[in-house]
Amino acid sequence: MAEFQRPRGTRDFTPEAMSTRRFIEAKLRKCAERFGFGEVMTPTFENTELFVERSGETILDDMYAFQDKGGRDIALRPELTAPIMRFYVNELASRPKPLKVFYFGNVFRYERPQSGRYREFFQFGAELIGAPSIESDVEIIALALSCLKDVSLENIEVRIGHLGILECILEESQLPKNLYGICLRYIDKQDIKTLKLLLSENGIDPEKQDTLLSIISMKGGRDVISTVQTMVEGGDDAFVYLANLLTKLTKYGFEGCTVDFGVARGLDYYTGMVFEIDSPSLGAEKQICGGGSYNLAELFGGEEVNSTGFAFGFDRVMLALEKDSVEIPTKGIRAYIIPIGQSTRPTSFEILRTLRENGISADIDLMGRKISKALAYANSIKTDKVILVGEKELVNDSVTIRDMDSGDQQTVNINDIAEHLKT
Ligand code: HAM
Repeated sequence: MAEFQRPRGTRDFTPEAMSTRRFIEAKLRKCAERFGFGEVMTPTFENTELFVERSGETILDDMYAFQDKGGRDIALRPELTAPIMRFYVNELASRPKPLKVFYFGNVFRYERPQSGRYREFFQFGAELIGAPSIESDVEIIALALSCLKDVSLENIEVRIGHLGILECILEESQLPKNLYGICLRYIDKQDIKTLKLLLSENGIDPEKQDTLLSIISMKGGRDVISTVQTMVEGGDDAFVYLANLLTKLTKYGFEGCTVDFGVARGLDYYTGMVFEIDSPSLGAEKQICGGGSYNLAELFGGEEVNSTGFAFGFDRVMLALEKDSVEIPTKGIRAYIIPIGQSTRPTSFEILRTLRENGISADIDLMGRKISKALAYANSIKTDKVILVGEKELVNDSVTIRDMDSGDQQTVNINDIAEHLKT
């Protein structure tokens, strides 16, 4: 075994993997820009307090947190919403509203690694800050869905919930308020057994327990909204909100979103609408996106500002694309030059330089290999065309260009190579 292994839950990415990741990343960026969002970047590490502020001390268990050499408490970011809101309060609060930003970056969580669950992973997300309207929530969900449409991930399930409704149900059950957070976390993890235990231990009436458990398992369209509304006292605004949200999403061209009263989200900062997107092909770690509306600025010393946002687990999006056999073009090289014999090398390098100066990706045999081996290498790096530079052809100022797909060969004048390869 090699002496050094990478840390658990981290990954190395090959040039091929990076090429496909960058291709998808570019599509997501383009989509966010089309929706009027601008990219921002924040530090990879922050003061630990920033993350504890919004989620309580338990978040520490999941974080890479340590003291730096100056004795400061530092954490690798476990997500980007808190850093973005810190940035907003520090520097962006005076900008005209709404502020629409997006980001792509690595995040770190000390979790038990398995397929689709890593300790270092990547999030692509967006935050819409300062526009407290249903249209903002629609805009955010529509952006997430448009991103997935642009990358051709079709097999998805969108589940939308509302924390206002869950709170009504918890209030009705008379669970002590200080236990709401933990209760929502069990609902989020679908840990029904521990949830039942918590409710029983706190003396919640069995009938109310049953109502809660049945509501959080209910999913569907408008009919489910009406059914649940009859089971809950209050929360009328939230029910109307959900119904309107579905209508507006349909107008955006997104039908088939499901209402799911069990969406609770694992992070403590959400206040109203919450949503998740699953890729059913992924099995246990199928959630590829999570988001909702929240209010963090006030907590960080700013003025109250309603925001809404989401983040994709980028690595899970990549896994889902692979599982669903979505074809992603792999980037190869346009031309690979094979000098035949030492005497043709100087001219070969001149051709190489001209091609690169003309914006054509080109490479050359640096190993002095025989033609067959050089061709095999050219094939392995996915070259479109091979340029064979032989002594005989050079006498006539020409080279042979071979198409690697068809095997067709053409004689081309040296001065016309760049033009020939552009077509
Ligand atoms: P989150 O649900 O904690 O939300 O993370 C977003 C996505 O990151 C998840 O839906 C999942 O796809 C992916 N993810 C989470 N943990 C892992 C892991 N260990 N390995 C691989 N992927 C993972 C947030 O982080 C919020 N900041 C989203 C948000 C933005 N809400 C409002 N604005």
